[in-house]
Amino acid sequence: MSKNIANWDKAKREGRKLSFITAYDHPFARMADAAGLDGILIGDSLGMMIAGSPDTLGVSLEQMEYHTSIVAKAVQKALIMADLPFGSYEESPAQAFAASARLMKAGAEIVKLEGGAPMVETVAFLSARAVPVCAHIGLTPQHIRQFGGFKRQGKTPEAAARLIEDAIALAQAGARMVLMEAIPADVAAEITRSIPVPTIGIGAGPGTDAQVLVLHDVLGLNMDRAPGFARAYINGAALMQEALTKYAEDVRTSKFPE
Ligand code: KIV
Repeated sequence: MSKNIANWDKAKREGRKLSFITAYDHPFARMADAAGLDGILIGDSLGMMIAGSPDTLGVSLEQMEYHTSIVAKAVQKALIMADLPFGSYEESPAQAFAASARLMKAGAEIVKLEGGAPMVETVAFLSARAVPVCAHIGLTPQHIRQFGGFKRQGKTPEAAARLIEDAIALAQAGARMVLMEAIPADVAAEITRSIPVPTIGIGAGPGTDAQVLVLHDVLGLNMDRAPGFARAYINGAALMQEALTKYAEDVRTSKFPE
Protein backbone atom coordinates (compact mmCIF):
# COMPACT_ATOMS: atom_id res chain seq x y z
CA MET A 1 0.00 0.00 0.00
CA SER A 2 1.12 3.44 -0.84
CA LYS A 3 2.74 5.99 1.43
CA ASN A 4 0.28 8.47 -0.15
CA ILE A 5 -2.51 8.70 2.42
CA ALA A 6 -5.03 9.59 -0.30
CA ASN A 7 -4.66 6.00 -1.53
CA TRP A 8 -5.71 4.76 1.89
CA ASP A 9 -9.05 6.56 1.48
CA LYS A 10 -9.36 4.86 -1.92
CA ALA A 11 -8.62 1.45 -0.35
CA LYS A 12 -11.42 2.10 2.13
CA ARG A 13 -13.85 3.02 -0.66
CA GLU A 14 -12.88 -0.15 -2.53
CA GLY A 15 -13.23 -2.31 0.59
CA ARG A 16 -9.58 -3.41 0.63
CA LYS A 17 -8.44 -4.40 4.14
CA LEU A 18 -5.17 -2.92 5.39
CA SER A 19 -2.67 -4.25 7.92
CA PHE A 20 -0.62 -2.36 10.49
CA ILE A 21 1.89 -3.62 13.02
CA THR A 22 4.06 -1.88 15.57
CA ALA A 23 7.84 -1.89 15.22
CA TYR A 24 10.42 -0.11 17.29
CA ASP A 25 13.77 -0.98 15.74
CA HIS A 26 15.53 -1.46 12.44
CA PRO A 27 15.56 -5.27 11.96
CA PHE A 28 11.91 -5.82 12.88
CA ALA A 29 10.80 -2.81 10.83
CA ARG A 30 12.69 -4.19 7.86
CA MET A 31 11.04 -7.60 8.26
CA ALA A 32 7.57 -6.07 8.61
CA ASP A 33 8.11 -3.97 5.49
CA ALA A 34 9.39 -6.96 3.52
CA ALA A 35 6.41 -9.01 4.75
CA GLY A 36 4.06 -6.53 3.06
CA LEU A 37 2.49 -4.84 6.06
CA ASP A 38 0.76 -1.68 4.83
CA GLY A 39 1.66 0.47 7.80
CA ILE A 40 4.18 0.44 10.63
CA LEU A 41 3.39 2.14 13.91
CA ILE A 42 6.17 3.28 16.18
CA GLY A 43 3.86 2.97 19.16
CA ASP A 44 4.53 4.31 22.61
CA SER A 45 3.85 0.68 23.58
CA LEU A 46 7.62 0.52 23.18
CA GLY A 47 7.72 1.60 26.84
CA MET A 48 6.07 -1.71 27.73
CA MET A 49 7.41 -3.99 24.99
CA ILE A 50 11.07 -3.07 24.96
CA ALA A 51 11.66 -0.96 28.10
CA GLY A 52 9.79 -3.21 30.53
CA SER A 53 7.51 -0.48 31.94
CA PRO A 54 4.01 -1.31 33.20
CA ASP A 55 2.41 1.33 30.96
CA THR A 56 3.18 3.93 28.28
CA LEU A 57 3.15 7.02 30.47
CA GLY A 58 6.91 7.34 30.95
CA VAL A 59 7.78 7.38 27.25
CA SER A 60 9.45 10.64 26.17
CA LEU A 61 9.35 12.58 22.92
CA GLU A 62 13.12 12.04 22.58
CA GLN A 63 12.62 8.26 22.78
CA MET A 64 9.85 8.41 20.16
CA GLU A 65 12.07 10.52 17.91
CA TYR A 66 14.95 8.05 18.20
CA HIS A 67 12.84 4.96 17.50
CA THR A 68 11.01 6.70 14.64
CA SER A 69 14.35 7.56 13.03
CA ILE A 70 15.70 3.99 13.19
CA VAL A 71 12.45 2.49 11.91
CA ALA A 72 12.22 5.05 9.10
CA LYS A 73 15.68 4.07 7.85
CA ALA A 74 14.48 0.48 7.44
CA VAL A 75 11.13 1.03 5.73
CA GLN A 76 10.76 1.39 1.96
CA LYS A 77 7.07 0.72 1.30
CA ALA A 78 4.90 0.85 4.41
CA LEU A 79 3.34 4.03 5.78
CA ILE A 80 5.19 5.19 8.91
CA MET A 81 3.01 6.32 11.81
CA ALA A 82 4.48 7.52 15.12
CA ASP A 83 2.83 8.11 18.49
CA LEU A 84 2.88 11.45 20.23
CA PRO A 85 3.77 10.39 23.78
CA PHE A 86 1.93 11.40 26.95
CA GLY A 87 2.66 15.01 27.92
CA SER A 88 3.97 16.09 24.52
CA TYR A 89 0.75 17.43 22.94
CA GLU A 90 -2.20 17.83 25.33
CA GLU A 91 -1.45 21.34 26.61
CA SER A 92 -2.13 23.26 23.39
CA PRO A 93 -2.33 22.84 19.62
CA ALA A 94 0.99 24.73 19.34
CA GLN A 95 2.68 22.24 21.68
CA ALA A 96 1.22 19.40 19.58
CA PHE A 97 2.55 20.98 16.39
CA ALA A 98 6.07 21.33 17.82
CA ALA A 99 6.10 17.68 18.93
CA SER A 100 4.61 16.46 15.62
CA ALA A 101 7.20 18.38 13.63
CA ARG A 102 9.96 16.60 15.56
CA LEU A 103 8.46 13.19 14.78
CA MET A 104 7.96 14.10 11.12
CA LYS A 105 11.56 15.30 10.83
CA ALA A 106 12.56 11.92 12.30
CA GLY A 107 10.65 10.14 9.52
CA ALA A 108 6.99 9.85 10.59
CA GLU A 109 4.48 10.28 7.74
CA ILE A 110 1.49 10.52 10.07
CA VAL A 111 1.33 11.10 13.82
CA LYS A 112 -1.10 9.50 16.25
CA LEU A 113 -2.58 11.17 19.30
CA GLU A 114 -5.01 9.86 21.90
CA GLY A 115 -8.35 11.36 22.81
CA GLY A 116 -11.80 12.15 21.49
CA ALA A 117 -13.67 15.46 21.65
CA PRO A 118 -10.97 17.33 23.65
CA MET A 119 -8.53 16.72 20.78
CA VAL A 120 -10.74 18.05 17.97
CA GLU A 121 -9.21 21.55 18.04
CA THR A 122 -5.68 20.11 18.03
CA VAL A 123 -6.47 17.79 15.12
CA ALA A 124 -7.82 20.76 13.10
CA PHE A 125 -4.75 22.85 13.98
CA LEU A 126 -2.30 20.11 12.94
CA SER A 127 -4.24 19.21 9.79
CA ALA A 128 -4.17 22.84 8.66
CA ARG A 129 -0.39 22.84 9.12
CA ALA A 130 0.69 19.87 7.00
CA VAL A 131 0.57 17.27 9.76
CA PRO A 132 -1.48 14.15 8.91
CA VAL A 133 -3.12 12.89 12.09
CA CYS A 134 -4.54 9.55 13.24
CA ALA A 135 -6.87 9.95 16.23
CA HIS A 136 -6.86 7.08 18.74
CA ILE A 137 -10.11 6.55 20.67
CA GLY A 138 -11.62 3.90 22.95
CA LEU A 139 -9.08 2.32 25.28
CA THR A 140 -6.47 5.05 25.07
CA PRO A 141 -3.55 3.71 27.15
CA GLN A 142 -2.36 7.21 28.12
CA HIS A 143 -5.66 7.59 30.06
CA ILE A 144 -5.36 4.44 32.19
CA ARG A 145 -5.15 6.43 35.41
CA GLN A 146 -8.58 7.86 34.59
CA PHE A 147 -9.96 4.51 33.39
CA GLY A 148 -8.60 2.63 36.39
CA GLY A 149 -6.55 0.27 34.21
CA PHE A 150 -6.55 -1.18 30.70
CA LYS A 151 -10.35 -1.45 30.45
CA ARG A 152 -12.57 -1.95 27.43
CA GLN A 153 -14.52 1.20 26.51
CA GLY A 154 -17.85 2.05 24.91
CA LYS A 155 -19.80 -0.61 26.78
CA THR A 156 -22.91 1.43 27.66
CA PRO A 157 -25.21 2.92 24.99
CA GLU A 158 -24.18 6.43 26.15
CA ALA A 159 -20.45 5.65 25.96
CA ALA A 160 -20.91 4.02 22.54
CA ALA A 161 -22.81 7.07 21.25
CA ARG A 162 -20.02 9.34 22.55
CA LEU A 163 -17.40 7.31 20.69
CA ILE A 164 -19.37 7.59 17.45
CA GLU A 165 -19.83 11.37 17.91
CA ASP A 166 -16.13 11.79 18.72
CA ALA A 167 -15.00 9.82 15.66
CA ILE A 168 -17.22 11.90 13.37
CA ALA A 169 -15.98 15.16 14.92
CA LEU A 170 -12.33 14.08 14.63
CA ALA A 171 -12.76 13.08 10.98
CA GLN A 172 -14.53 16.39 10.25
CA ALA A 173 -11.63 18.21 11.94
CA GLY A 174 -9.25 16.59 9.46
CA ALA A 175 -8.08 13.32 11.06
CA ARG A 176 -6.84 11.11 8.20
CA MET A 177 -7.43 7.90 10.16
CA VAL A 178 -9.21 6.89 13.35
CA LEU A 179 -7.79 4.08 15.47
CA MET A 180 -10.19 2.34 17.84
CA GLU A 181 -8.92 0.16 20.65
CA ALA A 182 -10.90 -2.34 22.73
CA ILE A 183 -14.43 -1.19 21.89
CA PRO A 184 -17.46 -3.28 20.90
CA ALA A 185 -17.32 -4.63 17.36
CA ASP A 186 -20.73 -3.18 16.42
CA VAL A 187 -19.66 0.31 17.56
CA ALA A 188 -16.39 0.06 15.57
CA ALA A 189 -18.33 -1.09 12.49
CA GLU A 190 -20.80 1.78 12.88
CA ILE A 191 -17.95 4.29 13.12
CA THR A 192 -16.30 2.72 10.05
CA ARG A 193 -19.53 3.24 8.07
CA SER A 194 -19.96 6.80 9.39
CA ILE A 195 -16.64 8.39 8.44
CA PRO A 196 -14.92 8.70 5.04
CA VAL A 197 -11.39 8.04 6.33
CA PRO A 198 -9.92 4.62 7.16
CA THR A 199 -10.50 3.14 10.60
CA ILE A 200 -7.92 0.93 12.27
CA GLY A 201 -9.03 -1.56 14.89
CA ILE A 202 -7.29 -3.36 17.73
CA GLY A 203 -9.63 -5.47 19.80
CA ALA A 204 -12.49 -3.82 17.93
CA GLY A 205 -13.76 -6.70 15.80
CA PRO A 206 -13.60 -7.41 12.07
CA GLY A 207 -15.64 -4.44 10.83
CA THR A 208 -12.83 -1.86 10.59
CA ASP A 209 -10.91 -0.90 7.45
CA ALA A 210 -7.53 -1.89 8.90
CA GLN A 211 -6.19 -3.91 11.80
CA VAL A 212 -3.18 -3.23 13.99
CA LEU A 213 -1.42 -5.51 16.45
CA VAL A 214 1.61 -5.11 18.65
CA LEU A 215 4.65 -6.84 17.11
CA HIS A 216 5.62 -8.62 20.32
CA ASP A 217 2.13 -10.14 20.60
CA VAL A 218 2.19 -11.37 16.98
CA LEU A 219 5.65 -12.93 17.34
CA GLY A 220 5.04 -14.43 20.77
CA LEU A 221 7.69 -12.19 22.29
CA ASN A 222 5.43 -10.64 24.90
CA MET A 223 6.56 -12.49 27.99
CA ASP A 224 3.82 -10.91 30.09
CA ARG A 225 0.17 -11.65 29.40
CA ALA A 226 -0.83 -10.59 25.88
CA PRO A 227 -4.32 -9.09 25.52
CA GLY A 228 -7.07 -11.59 24.71
CA PHE A 229 -7.74 -10.07 21.29
CA ALA A 230 -4.13 -10.52 20.11
CA ARG A 231 -2.95 -13.53 18.10
CA ALA A 232 0.56 -15.01 18.30
CA TYR A 233 1.68 -16.49 14.96
CA ILE A 234 4.84 -18.00 16.44
CA ASN A 235 6.19 -18.68 19.92
CA GLY A 236 9.18 -16.40 19.36
CA ALA A 237 10.19 -16.17 23.01
CA ALA A 238 10.48 -19.96 23.37
CA LEU A 239 12.45 -20.33 20.12
CA MET A 240 14.87 -17.56 21.02
CA GLN A 241 15.25 -18.81 24.58
CA GLU A 242 16.13 -22.23 23.16
CA ALA A 243 18.77 -20.73 20.84
CA LEU A 244 20.33 -18.72 23.67
CA THR A 245 20.38 -21.73 25.97
CA LYS A 246 22.08 -23.79 23.24
CA TYR A 247 24.72 -21.10 22.65
CA ALA A 248 25.52 -20.84 26.38
CA GLU A 249 25.70 -24.62 26.58
CA ASP A 250 28.01 -24.86 23.53
CA VAL A 251 30.41 -22.36 25.08
CA ARG A 252 30.34 -24.21 28.42
CA THR A 253 31.03 -27.55 26.77
CA SER A 254 33.64 -26.15 24.31
CA LYS A 255 31.49 -26.95 21.26
CA PHE A 256 31.77 -23.28 20.28
CA PRO A 257 34.07 -22.04 18.90
CA GLU A 258 35.40 -25.05 17.06
O1 KIV B 1 1.36 2.17 21.14
C1 KIV B 1 0.78 1.29 20.50
O2 KIV B 1 1.33 0.22 20.20
C2 KIV B 1 -0.59 1.54 20.09
C3 KIV B 1 -1.36 0.35 19.60
C4 KIV B 1 -1.88 -0.41 20.76
C5 KIV B 1 -2.43 0.75 18.68
O3 KIV B 1 -1.07 2.62 20.20
